[in-house]
Amino acid sequence: MRVIIITGSVGTGKTALARKLSKKLKFKHIDVNQVVTEYNLAESYDKKRRCKVVDTKELNKALKDKIKWAKKDLEKGIVIDSHLSHHLPKRLVDLCIVTKCDLKVLEQRLKKRHYSKTKIRENMDCEIFDVCLNEAKEAKHTILVVDTTKGINIGSISKQIGDLKKWN
Ligand SMILES: Nc1ncnc2c1ncn2[C@@H]1O[C@H](COP(=O)(O)OP(=O)(O)O)[C@@H](O)[C@H]1O
Ligand SMILES: [Mg+2]
Repeated sequence: MRVIIITGSVGTGKTALARKLSKKLKFKHIDVNQVVTEYNLAESYDKKRRCKVVDTKELNKALKDKIKWAKKDLEKGIVIDSHLSHHLPKRLVDLCIVTKCDLKVLEQRLKKRHYSKTKIRENMDCEIFDVCLNEAKEAKHTILVVDTTKGINIGSISKQIGDLKKWN
């Protein structure tokens, strides 16, 4: 069974890509928000940022469990989308996709989500400094960078993945 993780700054198109890619490859899409609820992983709530605080170690444990179950269910593969997914150890991951987006477009997308100015700033900084990409590199993942600024061409992306075809 193949495991693809999709990481990247908030708003760069992880979920949009995960939906399309899992459909195209007939892989199961793992919604990390759902995993956080199911495994009761939210330790607290950050009021200022309006988001749940999740411990990456605990999330990793839950995701490992999800991978185990998907194997048992004889899934062809899974697509995990989360800005924390790259913290999974390389040995469990076949491919790490990092979504990126033009900064002006990203700002528009975040504004549309009605995030506070601080939250927009923080997420923009995350993209400017390539936090997810750098952490994914540090974790030694096999990386494919996908820019979603002009939309997601799933045909071209799966072509880029190339070897994935051999997995099917
Ligand atoms: N390729 C795209 N073209 C236009 N809008 C997009 C594209 N990808 C995502 N979006 C929009 O940008 C926002 C963030 O996308 P989403 O996939 O939810 O990002 P993430 O999961 O990384 O936070 C959503 O409103 C989505 O509709
Ligand atoms: Mg998302």
